[in-house]
Amino acid sequence: MGNDEAKRTAGYAAADRYVTSRMKVGMGTGSTAVWAIRRIGERLAAGEIAGVTGVATSSQSEIECQELGIPLRSMNDPEIGGRLDVTIDGADEIDPDRRLVKGGGGALLIEKIVAYASSRFVVVAEPSKLVDHLGMAFPVPLEVLPVARVPVMDALRRLGAEPVVRVAERKMGAVITDNGNILIDVRFLEPIDPVAMEASLSTIPGVLGNGLFTRVEPIVLIGHEDGSVAELGT
Ligand code: A5P
Repeated sequence: MGNDEAKRTAGYAAADRYVTSRMKVGMGTGSTAVWAIRRIGERLAAGEIAGVTGVATSSQSEIECQELGIPLRSMNDPEIGGRLDVTIDGADEIDPDRRLVKGGGGALLIEKIVAYASSRFVVVAEPSKLVDHLGMAFPVPLEVLPVARVPVMDALRRLGAEPVVRVAERKMGAVITDNGNILIDVRFLEPIDPVAMEASLSTIPGVLGNGLFTRVEPIVLIGHEDGSVAELGT
C-alpha cells in the first residue's frame, strides 16, 4: 500500500500544481499517471477548474478519462492543433539528468508524440524509479512493425543489446499495442549514452518508436509514502 500512496501523492501533486482551466492536457499511462487523471476529474467535478481538454496516450487513459467525463480529442483535432499545454505521465527509470525510460505499459509511441509536443512535461513517480544509468535494470521498449521483427532484432544485437519480444499474459503470443504493433524490450549490458542511443534506435527500419526520452526536460515529481513530494527540474 505504501507504494500506491507514493504514486497517488505524485499524481495528485501534478494535477494540483500544473493543470489550470482551459488547458490542453496530455493524459499519461500507468499506475501513477492514472492518479493525475483522477485528480483532474475530481477538480473538474468540484468546479475548481473548467474547460480542460485531454489527449489520451493509451486505451487505459482513454477509458479513465471517459469514465470521469473528461473530454478527449486527438492530436490532429483543430481544437488541439498538434500542441498541448502540459502532459503528465509516469516513467520506468529517471536518471540524474532527468532523462527517462518509458513504455513499461506499452504506450511509449503515443506517449512520446504527446510529450514532445507539450509546452511542459511533468513526470510523476515514486523513489524506486530514480537510477544512475538508464536501460540496465529496466529494459528499453521499442514499438516495432510486426513484419520487421527479425531484422530489427538482428540490428539490435549488432548494437550490443539483448532484445526480447514482449509476450502477453492471459493470451498466448506477443503483446499487440494500441496501434497494432509488437514490442521488443532491449536490455543493454554496458551503460549507454541515452541521447545517442535514442537517435540510433530511431534509425532502424521498422522501429516506430523507442522508450528513451532524452529530448524533453521534464519537471519530475517524486511522491513519498508520507505524503511529501520532491520536485526536480524547477
Ligand atoms: C506506460 O507505457 C509507461 O510509460 C508508464 O508511464 C510507465 O511504465 C510507468 O508506469 P507506472 O507508473 O505504472 O510505474
